[in-house]
Amino acid sequence: MLRRWEARTGLVLGRGHKPGVQLRAHATAAEFPSLGDDESYRLTVSSREVRLEAQTTWGVLRGLATLEQCLHAGPRGWFLPALAIADRPRFPWRGVLIDVCRHWQPLESLKRQLEAMALAKLNVLHLHLTEDQGFRIESRLYPRLHELGSDGEYFRQEEIRELVRFAADRGIRVVPEFDVPGHTTSWLVGHPELGSAPGPYAIRRHWGVAEAALDPTNEQVYVLLAGFLGEMAEIFPDTCVHIGGDEVKAAHWSGNERIQRFIRQHNLGDNRGLQAYFNQRVSEILGRLGRHMAGWDEVLHPRLSAGTLVQSWRGVAGLDEATKMGCAALLSNGYYLDLWWPAARHYEVDPVPAGTTLTPDQQKLILGGEAAMWTEWTSAERLDGALWPRAAAVAERLWSPREVRDVGRLYARLPGFSARLEDLGLLHEKNRDAMLRRFAGDTAGASTVAALQTVAALFEPVKNYGRNLAQADANQFQPLTGFADFLRVESDEARGFGAAVETLLHDRPKVADIERLIGKMTAWRTAAKALPALLTASGRSHEIIPAAKVLGQACDIGLRALDLLLTRHTGTRAWRQRNLATIDQICRPLGHVELPLERPLKLLVTAASLPRPSGVKARAAWATELLAAARIRGLAAAPVYEQWL
Ligand code: ACM
Repeated sequence: MLRRWEARTGLVLGRGHKPGVQLRAHATAAEFPSLGDDESYRLTVSSREVRLEAQTTWGVLRGLATLEQCLHAGPRGWFLPALAIADRPRFPWRGVLIDVCRHWQPLESLKRQLEAMALAKLNVLHLHLTEDQGFRIESRLYPRLHELGSDGEYFRQEEIRELVRFAADRGIRVVPEFDVPGHTTSWLVGHPELGSAPGPYAIRRHWGVAEAALDPTNEQVYVLLAGFLGEMAEIFPDTCVHIGGDEVKAAHWSGNERIQRFIRQHNLGDNRGLQAYFNQRVSEILGRLGRHMAGWDEVLHPRLSAGTLVQSWRGVAGLDEATKMGCAALLSNGYYLDLWWPAARHYEVDPVPAGTTLTPDQQKLILGGEAAMWTEWTSAERLDGALWPRAAAVAERLWSPREVRDVGRLYARLPGFSARLEDLGLLHEKNRDAMLRRFAGDTAGASTVAALQTVAALFEPVKNYGRNLAQADANQFQPLTGFADFLRVESDEARGFGAAVETLLHDRPKVADIERLIGKMTAWRTAAKALPALLTASGRSHEIIPAAKVLGQACDIGLRALDLLLTRHTGTRAWRQRNLATIDQICRPLGHVELPLERPLKLLVTAASLPRPSGVKARAAWATELLAAARIRGLAAAPVYEQWL
C-alpha cells in the first residue's frame, strides 16, 4: 500500500522511517481463510498516528482496504482525514463467480481480480471450472478430462496452488465449482462411457444449454468423481465444493430406457428424483473428503442432503425454500453482472431486504451472495472491465448495513474506487482504450480515435442477453474485439447527461445550462456524422454505421428540443408524439449495443412541447405532467429463467 501511495503522491513513504502506521492483530489467522472468520477491525486516524486493530489478520486486511481509500489530495497537500471507524461485514460470504470455461481466463487475469476483490472486501472467489465448453483443470488421475476437453487451456495443479495462496494472502477463499451432472459435454469428450447417450462428444462451441449429462446409474461415474474430487481436495483447501447442478435438461435421461428403468426400480419418481439421488451420492463422496456441498437452486429437492449450501440464481424463491429446509443459502439472482445492468440496479438487490418474508431463523441462514461473471461474451482482455467497477456495488451491498443505499453517493464514490483499482494494476480502463485504438486501425489519427471515443462513450452493451438473440450463431472462436466489446458497461457520459437534464427540468431551465447541453450534443453529433467515413481504412467501419446513425438522430432530436427550450417556443403535440416514437426506436437494442438516452431525450422533447409552468405550485405539477407525458419505458424487466435457455 505504501508503494502505491508513493506512486500517487511522489513522496517517499516509510522506507527506513517509522511510517506512523500501527497494525495490531490479536491473533494470527490460520493459513487459509474460512467461512465465518472474524473480519472486524477498528481504524483510527489522528494527527499523531494511524492505528489499525483487529481480532485477526483478516480483519487487518479489511482495515487496510479501507485505509488505502482514505488518502486524498487537497490544496494543502496529501492527507488522511481524521476518523474513527469500527467496522464489520453484514454477511460472511461475499463472492465473485468467474466462469473460466466459456472464454478462458488465465492465472494472471484471476490474480488481478483477486487484488480488486480484496480492495472491495470481497472474500470468496467462486471458480466455475468445468462446462460444456471447456474442462479447465488438470486431472492427473483422469488426464483425458483436461487433455481432450480444454483445447490446452486449463490450470495446471501448481497454478491452482499458487492462486489459492495468492488469494489467501488477501483473505480470500477459493471455492471451486465442478458442474455436474449437466453442463458436462467437455468431460464426455475423453470419457464418453460416462454419458447418458452413446456419443461421441465434442467440446461445445456455441452457447446455450447442452443435453449431455453424466449417467447417474453408472457406478463408474462415482468412481471417477471420487478420484477426481479427491485430487481436487488436495489443491483446494476450502471445505466447500460447488457441484453446480443447474439446468439439467434430462433429454438424454428420458431417452435412455435403462436409466428410466433404474428410476422405477429405485422409486426415484422422475428425472428430478434421479438428480437428487446423484446429488446424494456426490455429497457422500465429498463428506468422506471432509468437504461439504454447494449447488445452484436446482439441487433443491426433499431428499437434498442436510448441510448443502444453496445458491439462488433463478429468483429469491430459492432462498425461501432452501432456508425452510434448514439449508444455508446465497443470493446471486440480481447480481449477474453479465446482464450488463448499471451498478445501481445491482446495488438495490438485497439478500435480506427490509420487507423480507423470511423468518428470523431463516434470515440467519442467508450467508450473503455472489456477483456472477459468465463469460460467453467476455474474453480475458475484457474481464476487468466486465467486472469493475460494478462489482464494487455488490461488494458494498454485502458488506455494509442495509440502510447504506444512496445511489447518488455510490456513483460519486465509484470513480475514486476505479482509480484505486488502476493503482492495483487492473486493466478495465487500459484495455478498453487499447481495444478502441486497435478497432480504429493502424492509420487512425488522433481525430479519428477521438471521434470513436466520443461515440463509444455513449453506448452500452445490449442488456439481458440480447446479444444471444442478435448473434444466434455465436461461438467460442469468434474474437470479442468489436464495438460492443470495448464499451464501458455503463456509460458515465449518458448518466451525466441524464442527470444534467433532470436538473435542468427540475426548475425553470437556465440559459447557461441549456447552452452547455447544446454544446455536448453538438459535439456528439459531429463525431457521429464523421465517424463512418473516418473509419473506412480500419476495415471495421461497417460495424459502427448503425450506432453512429442512431446517435446522430438522437442528437438531432435533442438539439431541436433544446433549441425550443432556449427560444421559449413550444413544440406541437404531433411533434412530441413523432419524436417519442422515434426515441423508442433508436433507444432499443441495436444488435450488440444500445443507446441509453431514452429518459433524458424523452424528458427534453416533452418539456419542449408542454406549456412552461409559472409559480412554484405549477412547477411541481409540471414535473408530474412531464413524466406522465414522456412515456418512459425505463429499464427492461429482468429476463425470466426460461428465456435464458
Ligand atoms: C446458471 O446461471 N445456470 C447457474
